[in-house]
Amino acid sequence: MNLFKNFSWGVTTAAAQTEGAYDKDGKGPSIWDEFTKKSHKIKDKSNAKVATDFYHCYKEDIDLAVAIGLKIFRFSISWPRVIPEGTGTVNQKGIDFYNKVIDYCLIVGIEPWITTYHWDLPQKLQDKGGWANREIISWYVAYVAVLRDHFADRVHYWILINEGIVCIGGGYFLGVHAPGKKGIRNFISGTHHLLLAQAEGFKVLKQKEGLQVGTAISCTKIEPYRNTFADQKAAKRIDTLMNRLFIEPHLGLGYPIDDLPILKRISKYYNEGDLEALKTDFDFLGIQTYTREVARAAWYIPYLGALQVKPKKRNVATSVMGWETYPEGIPYFLERFAKYDPEKPLWLTECGMALSTDEDDQERIEYYKKVIQGMKAVLEKGIHVKGILLWTLVDNFEWAEGYIPKFGIISLNQKTLQRKMKKSAIWLKEYLSNMNMK
Ligand code: BGC
Repeated sequence: MNLFKNFSWGVTTAAAQTEGAYDKDGKGPSIWDEFTKKSHKIKDKSNAKVATDFYHCYKEDIDLAVAIGLKIFRFSISWPRVIPEGTGTVNQKGIDFYNKVIDYCLIVGIEPWITTYHWDLPQKLQDKGGWANREIISWYVAYVAVLRDHFADRVHYWILINEGIVCIGGGYFLGVHAPGKKGIRNFISGTHHLLLAQAEGFKVLKQKEGLQVGTAISCTKIEPYRNTFADQKAAKRIDTLMNRLFIEPHLGLGYPIDDLPILKRISKYYNEGDLEALKTDFDFLGIQTYTREVARAAWYIPYLGALQVKPKKRNVATSVMGWETYPEGIPYFLERFAKYDPEKPLWLTECGMALSTDEDDQERIEYYKKVIQGMKAVLEKGIHVKGILLWTLVDNFEWAEGYIPKFGIISLNQKTLQRKMKKSAIWLKEYLSNMNMK
């Protein structure tokens, strides 16, 4: 039996990491444009003013994806390119750009998928508090309505918000991502508003018939350091934060307060009816997973009472991100999420590994072989997974890590902007073409 018969392969990209053209054709500044001005925040002191110049090179990139045999091209819309001030006037040139991307995908026969939000909030909205301001629900809803009205005639698959935990955790709690805010109050309020915005955004998109609308959830396998009660409880708190907080309220399960008591504070931000409003019957769930983390109890760490035991200390191999490469997390999370609702289609909407090398990326090939193995095991069990989207096509701006980690299957010469298929892209091309012949 060909397990991959009704299964799709594609790739995920994101505007802030690829487009460049940061102030071209009326685009407003995003929080990442602002954040990268503080060069000490970015490991190689770089920024994304040019990035991969997808703004000008989109045809070449889409052609490369097609040449490899990929069938889905997921990209995100830059909110400040479409609505420079965050609310109000729509920038027609921004709309024109995404129309060109979508139309080109359709011409060359690859399905365009839209992510409405992959972390590049308009700076103007951050000036008003960003995700910590409840008004963001209405700002986001108005933005999503603009996207629906312009693009939903041709784009059928939509992902609302990419990885809420990374967006709010990195940007509003740890301060390592834009907008660089810290603290529990920002985190708690940002979490609640982001989830409410996503739930409302879902309703706005579903006003148009025939759309498939989902979300993309960051998942990290968490294990206790020692087999003690304290470490197990610590691991459970971290697991709740990383893997449950940004999905269970949508599934009607409420906030997982019992396993992460600090979440009690969210009630401070509740308006009447909020818990009901959060319930969202997504058409699919997107799982994204890269690594595994180990937690141990640490009573002196505020809110979480837990510490991460770094991979280096555990003597496991790490990628240039400092992460343990862990494709085993893919079957684990697909099975785990299928338990919420076995009927709900799942997609692996991101997976990948970072290397510091350019073209000879044999390690990445080994990684993807394991991904395929894990996926086969899951499909054999009858779990409803519909496809894999790789992270990512072309080496790009890896947020606070700058351009050091290379996640692409295509390399980029940053000076000439020349693209070149890596060994992994050539391997994948062959793999996909052999599969199609079966
Ligand atoms: C994000 C990407 C990011 C990748 C690797 C995912 O969490 O969606 O934007 O580049 O991980 O860090």
